[in-house]
Amino acid sequence: MAPRTGIFSSSVGTKILIGLTGVLLVVYLLIHIAGNMVVFLGPAAFNTYAFTLESNPLLPLVELVLLSWFVIHIYKTVRNFLSNQTARPVAYQKKKSAGHTTRKTFASSTMIFSGLWLFAFLLVHVKAFHDGWGTQYEWPAGGRDLYRQEMETFANPVMVGFYIISMLVVGSHLWHGASSAFQSLGADKPAWTRVILPAGKAIAVLVAGGFIVIALFAHFYGVRS
Ligand code: HEM
Repeated sequence: MAPRTGIFSSSVGTKILIGLTGVLLVVYLLIHIAGNMVVFLGPAAFNTYAFTLESNPLLPLVELVLLSWFVIHIYKTVRNFLSNQTARPVAYQKKKSAGHTTRKTFASSTMIFSGLWLFAFLLVHVKAFHDGWGTQYEWPAGGRDLYRQEMETFANPVMVGFYIISMLVVGSHLWHGASSAFQSLGADKPAWTRVILPAGKAIAVLVAGGFIVIALFAHFYGVRS
């Protein structure tokens, strides 16, 4: 095979790009969950928040930047996975645990599968946000009544089930990914690792747990509000 030349197609460059886009996407998810928590303040606060966001002229630019992080992340991770498969098409025979000091977990061994699930989920999620899912309602003060739409969507147990499973998958991706990304970017001194590993797991629980609580709130409480 011809040697790769560009810095971002070298293996170090690939590692940096995956780590960097991973960190940026985690930061985005933290902002996203914080924004979504406004739902607990009621329809007026939530719809005003959503309308302010939607009517910001910079939104298309922000969406484009976000999309570019996703595209780079997905392209690089899938390519990396495929070239690792080509380099070693036969799996290692020994599948037993490598002992208590190993960092290998279910989450770390299934990153490509949790990532691909996430990709499918994102397509459904973005479609629901942009084009609406089911009936669309106007909010009298301006924009859409996304609060009502969210409550109606989650009134459906199938939607809540799909959403909760997807959030558990996000949690799994971040359980390994959040700390791994910092280490890919060079933060791998033992003293830092002691902080980064539990912090990564805390982020996974916070993000996945936060979105699950919102879905359950909408399912059990929303239809009555
Ligand atoms: C909100 C969405 C996502 C977030 C927050 C996210 C976050 C991360 C983070 C932080 C890492 C660790 C990077 C590193 O170790 O340097 C990672 C790794 C990975 N991601 Fe994602 N990711 C997302 C979506 C996706 C999608 C859609 C895919 C689709 C294929 C994907 C596939 C992977 C794979 C395969 C790895 C492991 C890379 C490796 O170790 O070689 N991710 N992700």
